[in-house]
Amino acid sequence: MIDGKIIKKEVFVNMKILNQHYTLANGVKIPKIGFGTWQVPNGDVAYQSVKLALKNGYRHIDTAAAYRNEESVGRAIKDSGIPREEIFITTKLESHIKTYEGALEGFEKSMKALGLDYLDLYIIHAPWPWSDMGKDCSEGNVLAYKALEKVYKDGRVKAIGVSNFSTKELDNIINHCEIVPMVNQIGYFVGHNEKETDDYCKARNILIEAYSPLAIGYLLKNKDIQDMAKKYDVTPAQVCIRYCIEKGTVPLPKSTHESRIIENSNLDFEIDEADMAYLDSINDDPRRW
Ligand code: A2P
Repeated sequence: MIDGKIIKKEVFVNMKILNQHYTLANGVKIPKIGFGTWQVPNGDVAYQSVKLALKNGYRHIDTAAAYRNEESVGRAIKDSGIPREEIFITTKLESHIKTYEGALEGFEKSMKALGLDYLDLYIIHAPWPWSDMGKDCSEGNVLAYKALEKVYKDGRVKAIGVSNFSTKELDNIINHCEIVPMVNQIGYFVGHNEKETDDYCKARNILIEAYSPLAIGYLLKNKDIQDMAKKYDVTPAQVCIRYCIEKGTVPLPKSTHESRIIENSNLDFEIDEADMAYLDSINDDPRRW
């Protein structure tokens, strides 16, 4: 019995999600869970939350030029004292930049703000400017992505990809560029699991990163998720984030509170097949959040 307990404990420690990775199409390892920083204001809030995430074992930080917090994120990474190569860092090209030169400039600006000499993942933030969602920017996306290919080939970035791209927009990149995007970061959560994009990406070895895995907190009030959390003796947030892991995606939860930062990475349980099917069937209209 004592032996049994020891073995169980070792397995539990080894399973810890913070120590697990996926492998991207080019062989680069990416931690299975990332720390999101969308809507986390530059300055002390971003600095402290990233420091707390790193202190509590996160090794994957996701930011963007558009979040306007790259400077604080970069400073927190530097001040953490953790060797650079142990942290996976992503930033994103602003969505309105759709030229080759503009994208190269955007990249240099981000590198300067972050204070880094290489990046782990650089992605186009959206296929259209946020101010003109849905606009056809096919040509501009190809030009911007070619700039990402250049910084990748120059060894400044370990991996490249896109965010918020539909299958049609991915087709455009794949048909006109050399390197298939290695990730597509999309809004992904229970009730909004983007099946068509997910299937398309899986078939082409494009890893899905799931932003807003809690639907910005909306899902925590969902009764079905609350009931399932009780069943597994975890919290609703843990059910939502574990769901993304079970689907083979990289959840990017974010919080400015240490207790939640820790909670969101304690995912050492498995949601069984029947419960996953039930979560898949939840059709909570995403527009309501
Ligand atoms: P806070 O920063 O005050 O903790 P998403 O990742 O889907 O965008 O959700 C982020 C929102 O959810 C933030 O408002 C965050 O607030 C809140 N949040 C993050 N983790 C938890 C948690 N474990 N429990 C409750 N709320 C959480």
